[in-house]
Amino acid sequence: MGIKLVSATRYLPQGKLTNSDLEKMVETSDDWIRQRTGLVSRTMAGDETITDMAIKAARECLEKIDREIIDKIKLLIVTTASYLQVVPHVSAAIVKPIGLAEEVLAFDINSGCTSFIYALDIVEKYLLKDKDQYALIVSSDKLSDYIDYTDRGTCILFGDAAAATLWAYEEQNEQIAIHKTLTAPDVLFRDGDYINMNGNEVFKFAVGNLPELISDVCRKANVDVSEVDLFLLHQANGRIIESVAKKFRSDDNHFPVRFQNIGNTSSVSLPILITQMIDEDKLQNARNIIFAGFGAGLSLGVILFKGIN
Ligand code: UT7
Repeated sequence: MGIKLVSATRYLPQGKLTNSDLEKMVETSDDWIRQRTGLVSRTMAGDETITDMAIKAARECLEKIDREIIDKIKLLIVTTASYLQVVPHVSAAIVKPIGLAEEVLAFDINSGCTSFIYALDIVEKYLLKDKDQYALIVSSDKLSDYIDYTDRGTCILFGDAAAATLWAYEEQNEQIAIHKTLTAPDVLFRDGDYINMNGNEVFKFAVGNLPELISDVCRKANVDVSEVDLFLLHQANGRIIESVAKKFRSDDNHFPVRFQNIGNTSSVSLPILITQMIDEDKLQNARNIIFAGFGAGLSLGVILFKGIN
C-alpha cells in the first residue's frame, strides 16, 4: 500500500543570473563555480513572490485534472523557506486562486531543502488512511530575496522556482522512509536579511551521511541497491551527487544532475527533477526510486518508492 504520482509541473521564472554576471559582482570565476558546483546559471524570480510562483505551478499541474478529482484534494502542503511574511501561511493564500475546495487541510513546511521529503512522507501516511482523497504538494522558493550578493560563498549557489505534484493512493506501491536530524543551528540560518551558510559543513554532512542512509533504506525495504532505477538527490551541488554516486559505483544515468541552469532551488529541486525525469522518459519505466533531501537543521531524509506510477 502506498502512493502514486498523478501530475507534476515546474515553473521556472524568466530571469537569469549567469556565472559571468556573478564574476562582475564578487571575486569568483566561471571556472571555479563550474568545477565546485556544476552551475552555469540560475533562474531568478525578480518581482514575482513565492505565492505568485506557487499559484502558477499549481494551476498548470491541475489544468489537465478532472474537476471531480480536484474536489477530492483534501491535503495541500506548501514547502518553502523563503517567507516574506510568516503569517498567514502560503498554503492558505493559494487555496482559492488554484481552485481547491474550502474543506482542504492546508499547511506549510519550512524545513529548508529537506521539506519536500517530509511532505512526501506525510502525504503517504495521510493517503493510506483516506484512500479516496488526493494530496497536492506545491513547492516554491525564492532564496534570492535572502542572499547577500557580496557573499561569494552563498550567492553563486541559489536559484528561484516553483513546482507542484499531485498524489493519490495506490495499492500496488510502497514507500519506506528514513530521517536524520541534528541540532546545528549555526551551520545554515537566516540572520536578519540574509542567509548565512557554512556550505562546506553542509557538504560534509550530506556526503558523510547519504550513502549510509541510502543503504539503510534499501535494507529496510528489502531492495538491493543495484535494483534501484533512479537516485533523485537534492540538487544542491553536482559534486555532492557525483561523490555519492561514486560510492555506489554509479553515474549520471542513475544519479541525475539537472540543475546546471536552474540553481539550487532548495525545497523545489526534487519536484523539478521529477518533471525533468518525466521529460526524459525515465520515470515512466522506473520501479524503485530513491528520493533524498538534506540541508538546514541539519536535516536529511530519504524515501524509497517501490513504484511511483
Ligand atoms: O541546499 C541547501 C543546503 N546547502 C548546500 O547543500 C550547500 C552545500 N555546499 C556547497 O555547495 C559548497 O560547500 C559551496 C559551493 C557552497 C562551497 O564549495 P566548497 O568546495 O565547500 O568551498 P569552501 O567553502 O571549502 O571554500 C574553498 C575555497 C576557500 O578559499 P581558501 O580558504 O581555500 O583560500 C573559499 O574562500 O574557495 C573559496 N571560495 C570561492 N572562490 C571563488 C568560496 N566561494 C568562492 C567563490 N569563488 N564563489
